[in-house]
Amino acid sequence: MFDSTADPAQPKPEFYRELLLAADAMTASEPDTVANMANVAALLWETMPDLNWAGFYRLIGGELVLGPFCGRPACTRIALDRGVCGAAASTRSSQRVADVHAFPGHIACDAASRSELVVPVLRRGAVIAVIDLDSPALARFDADDQAGIEALAALIADRI
Ligand code: SME
Repeated sequence: MFDSTADPAQPKPEFYRELLLAADAMTASEPDTVANMANVAALLWETMPDLNWAGFYRLIGGELVLGPFCGRPACTRIALDRGVCGAAASTRSSQRVADVHAFPGHIACDAASRSELVVPVLRRGAVIAVIDLDSPALARFDADDQAGIEALAALIADRI
């Protein structure tokens, strides 16, 4: 069992410090990539308020394939020229979208989604996966969220 002390009432930088400690503890000695992605998705889902989806897409054979997640069932495959996830993977840069309805090509897996943060996971410079967070709130994610999830992606890059 892993319990995170990350509390959304904390200032975000502190929240993410705690979140990373929990993610580190749950993945450090576990070699199975699915187990690690599943627990990290659950950790995000349990600790971050106002999410309706949290999880992974993995880059396999030139497209994104659904990985472990929490939330409603989602599209299984995303081409790199599609959606917010495809944009993050193809540009190797985080996509923080305040209003998904204003993002050309956004893929609405859940009509309730209003904002989205997608962070690529890079291993030795190459994209291996993306972390995707969706929220029913407009502009749910700020620069601190992006920095925190980017730090998480760096932490787990060799463990997923
Ligand atoms: N909205 C994403 C698709 C994945 S779901 O949000 C889980 C996109 O536009 O790439």
